Amino acid sequence: MDAIRVRGNGPLSGRIPVGGAKNAALPILCATLLSDGASLLRNVPGLRDIETTSALLRFLGRDVAVAAPEVRVSAASGPIRPEAPYELVRQMRASVLVLGPLVARHGRAKVSLPGGCAIGARPIDQHIRGLEALGATIRVEHGYVVAEAPRLKGAEIVFDLPTVTGTENLMMAAALAKGRTTLVNCAREPEVEELGRVLNKMGAKVEGAGTDIIVIHGADALDPFDHAIISDRIEAGTFMAAVGAAGGDVLLEHAPIDDLEPVIVKMRQAGVEVERDGEHMRVRRVKPLRAVDVTTAPHPGFPTDMQAQFMAMMCVAEGQSVLTETIFENRFMHVPELCRMGADIDTRGHTAFVTGVKGLSGASVMATDLRASASLVIAGLVAEGDTIVRRVYHLDRGYEHIEKKLAGVGADIARVPLEGMP
Ligand code: EPU
Repeated sequence: MDAIRVRGNGPLSGRIPVGGAKNAALPILCATLLSDGASLLRNVPGLRDIETTSALLRFLGRDVAVAAPEVRVSAASGPIRPEAPYELVRQMRASVLVLGPLVARHGRAKVSLPGGCAIGARPIDQHIRGLEALGATIRVEHGYVVAEAPRLKGAEIVFDLPTVTGTENLMMAAALAKGRTTLVNCAREPEVEELGRVLNKMGAKVEGAGTDIIVIHGADALDPFDHAIISDRIEAGTFMAAVGAAGGDVLLEHAPIDDLEPVIVKMRQAGVEVERDGEHMRVRRVKPLRAVDVTTAPHPGFPTDMQAQFMAMMCVAEGQSVLTETIFENRFMHVPELCRMGADIDTRGHTAFVTGVKGLSGASVMATDLRASASLVIAGLVAEGDTIVRRVYHLDRGYEHIEKKLAGVGADIARVPLEGMP
């Protein structure tokens, strides 16, 4: 297995292309199940989660042709098998996004319960309750959710809390339900808004996606679509944190600046300069970094998916910052690893008190989730000596060639075989 070797090498300079958004591409791939014809997705990032979703769609009976950055999905000649097996759901929780489309289109879905994951318990009760409100009969057997409904019917559904994939699952189900569905207390993430755009292209009538109330007028049948996915705000935010930590001047090509507002506000407070440059975003840090407090919140708050990377940056800022995680109960797994690199972090419950240090020192580290792994790469960019980030498969789930993109702006970073590493 490979690892990423990174060594502190001074400021970064140059251009980094930002790819398509993973968390927009995953639900949109699942939305292809709502129609029969051939759909074309463009600007799809080359990631392991995209491969896993493609494998799942193939298992269900679809033809999927991946030629990055394009993916074409069409109906295979055989019947659909409306079942998402444990083996695939275990690898990627977002597999639960086939539940809504399958029951809406085929009247039945059997999807493995995802169970907990490294960052928390992550139940799917809101997905299930919403589908029940749309008229599905749901039972749990042998670790699977089985949902059945001859035809879903529009309803008013109030989420107990905003859930991103929960909102997306119900939007897709409602797109083929009879009549009007109103979803209240929805997730407002840009990826939810993007799914709304795609469902509208398919012929559903979706209003309010990106706000907390979404109204969907279901259609009897939906059309295939051709769609270019929005840029990945978390990938762009990760590179912002890299420049924040290492210093320098980098142009993030096609970074979705409007979607990044809550991150940009905090970056600027910390002394990172961010400005729009045509359709790109310029990120510079020439002055010392200042400590800034951050509390994660659903969009438009500070994203939980940027907490670990921001913390890596705060490890080398002047002063003490207080970072509070409110979305997932176990999302500080990078803390002990950052401490092994010389960071000064004290956690109490969901809050981390980070006291900036003059420098970090390279170490062999590993993390158990995607964003935590990204934070270790960022720490490695400012550490003295070699940092070896293990379990690269976490990074490959959500970052396309992170080492090549960072090497392109002058970082001393490479993918190396793990054999023989200290
Ligand atoms: N929740 C419930 N019940 C539910 C659904 C969610 O209690 O039925 C809770 C969760 O346990 C969590 C909170 O609600 O405490 C919010 O979770 P949400 O459902 O919004 O998360 P998700 O849809 O499973 C997506 C992203 C995550 C991102 C979160 C929060 C995708 C495929 N995944 O997950 O992305 O952290 O929203 O923004 O869109 C990542 O990319 O690294 C990643 C983990």
